[in-house]
Amino acid sequence: MKALEWMGDSLKILDQTRLPIEIKYRLATNYEEVAEAIEKMEVRGAPAIGAAAAYGYALGAIKYDGELANLKEHMEKVQKRLAETRPTAVNLFWALRRMEDRMRELHDVTDFGKIKQVLISEADQIAEDDRQVNYLIGEEGNSIIPEEANILTHCNAGALATVEYGTALGVIRAAHRSNKKINVYAGETRPFLQGARLTALELMKDEIPVTLIADNMAGFLMQQGKVDLVLVGADRIAANGDTANKIGTYSLAILAQAHEIPFYVAAPTSTIDLKVASGQEIPIEERDAQEIREVFGVQVAPADVDVYNPAFDVTPSKLITGIITEKGIVTPPYSVNLLKMMVRT
Ligand code: MRU
Repeated sequence: MKALEWMGDSLKILDQTRLPIEIKYRLATNYEEVAEAIEKMEVRGAPAIGAAAAYGYALGAIKYDGELANLKEHMEKVQKRLAETRPTAVNLFWALRRMEDRMRELHDVTDFGKIKQVLISEADQIAEDDRQVNYLIGEEGNSIIPEEANILTHCNAGALATVEYGTALGVIRAAHRSNKKINVYAGETRPFLQGARLTALELMKDEIPVTLIADNMAGFLMQQGKVDLVLVGADRIAANGDTANKIGTYSLAILAQAHEIPFYVAAPTSTIDLKVASGQEIPIEERDAQEIREVFGVQVAPADVDVYNPAFDVTPSKLITGIITEKGIVTPPYSVNLLKMMVRT
């Protein structure tokens, strides 16, 4: 199951809002459709959002039928539309910046065919980089996984959240492939149920033992000694190591600390945002109230009850045992060690 696939002049997006009930695709033929798919979370997960946006940007150029002289202005509009889709995952802005950099380098090129080709190949490269990086994260992360481990994860940081393989689930896949005895507890992840709908599905397809729990069961599991480590993905990591991830991650980090259980984050370096000093500066997306009042279209609360629906929270770096990246595992002090790792080639 691939979250996205470039078809030459359109982007095939697996509609994750329908999983696991139905396998449905959207063929996005222009940048607006890609933006819509990101907003509606048909494609979701920080690295997958980044790759989708890159192809969306390329589509913005491919489908442009105006004067070449006005292309720059048009591409600024395309960038703005894609950038406003979701605010928290920095991979979106990172990928768009890579695309804009290529576009800028093309300022004196008059061959429109050449421009399109350069933009498509940059989007392809972003996708390919993500694919490779996830296997490296898997290898790096496998070094901290014991021979037998019960791992609690949250949301979906798997193949569906990336171009392939996954970050946190990449580590789990690598451990399973190296014959470690792994059992995964997947928190269901209200309100969007990425854990129940996506993580459970992905792991079952790979025959990795997985047990689904409701989010409010994590503390009891830990108290019973059923969790050896917590392993999650990330949407944005600040320069001091504070990590924004799916709402509910912070509660798990507090619980892990209280039970002296290691808490690891797995993410590509494209998720690290050194321009943001601490978690307080990370913009947190708030989503529609209906996601809380309803569970997938079925009303579960008074129709007009007030709702607060932040999609992410920030785990302070002091609660994080280590951050697993493609360049190695970063441990505290994060302010020093993240910077050191980022400048290393
Ligand atoms: O709202 P989502 O589903 O896009 O949130 C996804 C997460 O929070 C993931 O844990 C994160 O993006 C890492 S995915 C490798």
